[in-house]
Amino acid sequence: MNHYKNLLKVSALGLCLAAGQAFAHGDVTPQPVDTKGLEKLGDEWHESNPYREPHPDHDLAVRIGASAYNQNCAACHGLEGISGGMTPDLRYLEVGDYGDEWYKERVINGAVRDGRVYMPKMADILSQEALWAIRTWLETVAVEQ
Ligand code: HEC
Repeated sequence: MNHYKNLLKVSALGLCLAAGQAFAHGDVTPQPVDTKGLEKLGDEWHESNPYREPHPDHDLAVRIGASAYNQNCAACHGLEGISGGMTPDLRYLEVGDYGDEWYKERVINGAVRDGRVYMPKMADILSQEALWAIRTWLETVAVEQ
């Protein structure tokens, strides 16, 4: 766990330095996410967002996802999902199964190129429930392309 915390800090710092800009939104130390009340999803990853409407936990997932995003993703992807340009703006992720597949791929594998971690493997840090809750919130701020 500590290893990941350091990895997160280092890669976020790397991004800031690369961008030559101050990182205003603070720390990316992974924060535990309380997913109490959300339907448990098991070990197998779902192919698409299980909490999408009409799932009864949809609204709870949005609330949990909003704060989980702010604590674990916003430092890199921007507050409210609005990217400063150095990372993809997640509001443009397509709502629906295609976007889900891409989302799932990324949070499981992160983004590593030439040994540099641009995005850590978030699924090693956060539960599937927390990550689909974040996805559920992201859908509420999604922008049509
Ligand atoms: C340390 C910085 C960092 C953190 C923390 C981070 N990301 Fe990322 N993320 C990136 C970068 C950089 C990319 C672009 C990767 C590339 O260039 O291939 C990315 C790409 C993505 C993509 C693909 C978007 C696209 O349009 O291709 C998704 C989805 C994503 N991140 C979701 C998340 C979620 C959800 C979280 C929080 C749970 C998160 N990220 C936390 C840096 C980060």
